[in-house]
Amino acid sequence: MASILDAFKEVHEAIKERDLSKKLKVGIIGTGWIAEAHVKSYQKCPDVEIVALADLIPGKAEAFCERYNVGSVAFFPDHKALIDSGLCDAVSVCTYNATHAECAIYALEHGVSVLLEKPMCVTLDEAVAICRAEKNSGGAVLSIGFQPRFDENMKLLKRIVQSGELGQIYYIQTGGGRRRGIPTPFGTSFIQKDTAGIGALGDIGCYSLDMVLNSIGYPKPLTVSGYTSNFFGKSPSYEHHDVFGVDDFAAAFIRLEGGVILDFRIAWAMNLDTPGDTILMGTKGSVRVPSTECWNGSVGGPLVIYHEIAGEQIETVIPMKHMDEDCFDLKIRSFVDAVKEGGEAPVPSSQILYNQANIDGIARSAALGKEVAIEIPEI
Ligand SMILES: NC(=O)c1ccc[n+]([C@@H]2O[C@H](COP(=O)([O-])OP(=O)(O)OC[C@H]3O[C@@H](n4cnc5c(N)ncnc54)[C@H](O)[C@@H]3O)[C@@H](O)[C@H]2O)c1
Repeated sequence: MASILDAFKEVHEAIKERDLSKKLKVGIIGTGWIAEAHVKSYQKCPDVEIVALADLIPGKAEAFCERYNVGSVAFFPDHKALIDSGLCDAVSVCTYNATHAECAIYALEHGVSVLLEKPMCVTLDEAVAICRAEKNSGGAVLSIGFQPRFDENMKLLKRIVQSGELGQIYYIQTGGGRRRGIPTPFGTSFIQKDTAGIGALGDIGCYSLDMVLNSIGYPKPLTVSGYTSNFFGKSPSYEHHDVFGVDDFAAAFIRLEGGVILDFRIAWAMNLDTPGDTILMGTKGSVRVPSTECWNGSVGGPLVIYHEIAGEQIETVIPMKHMDEDCFDLKIRSFVDAVKEGGEAPVPSSQILYNQANIDGIARSAALGKEVAIEIPEI
């Protein structure tokens, strides 16, 4: 009897046995805003030792070290000096977008594993070069920093789509935005062309794309008609308009392999509350993912499934799943586990290459003012 009832017990993932005596030596490249979150999550891993910090700005890494109690570490003036020191098994690349590629490639070429912040980089060419460096690295792990992937609600969305309950997905609307939310948390590195390379399109657009593309298994993008604008960033009333060099709004119509249409829009600023929820439309049912007010790539409220049961048109509302663990902590922990155990990257570059291909295609099409084909070279 007990064994029958046991079948109804909730199944929890087995608690991982970790070799805590083996410490992973980690370096942080770029000690700006997001580096704080990386350090705080690494500090929760008893089998990680932060051994090195690097930043281009003299004294910044030292001040960071003191502020976040990082302990006894070596300081370096840039990513090359940090990697050349040979101190690190793995690095977090927390630099602005424009130097993601050079930092990640240099680390991978030296066999050092990389947790690379999102967006992967600025252009598709850079993404291809990163993936090739990973392939030739002799087994270094490369994971891309999409923490919403670890959200149980996001995982559920993928499970629903993959379950087949919605039938064949043929149309997707995704994106999000902020009424006013151009990011300038500590300076203007998000909005200058030379540091950010891309604006809302890459910064928060990459999350919207990942939400839906991951759900449907990352099909190849084929063609795109894209649009970008910067009316808010370049408005004379905006305090940083003189240095604003990227997009603050992007929209696109993308054709994906398998006949799927992707309708995308993203905004750092707009005269609207939201440019719309995320919707995946299928032949048997559809799912709506409510947008968040300050778009950060997460699920904004209960998922709603629209389907037909016994001839009735039904809406099923799925309550939000509560999580005890923080998604950022899970992003760091899963990367550490993959490096230590020689496992698969938690967020593999092979998927995010396609994310970057969409972003690159949108930017290219917007610049040319016409639809373009997306070609992804072999890695
Ligand atoms: N995952 C998230 O939730 C999240 C949140 C915020 C930012 N980000 C991403 O993190 C990245 C960094 O954002 P931020 O706000 O911390 O930027 P930031 O401008 O505050 O910090 C970046 C730092 O990198 C340093 N740097 C640049 N190139 C370097 C190099 N070659 N070697 C050493 N240091 C170098 C700069 O001097 C700067 O101090 C961006 O790509 C951003 O999109 C992710």
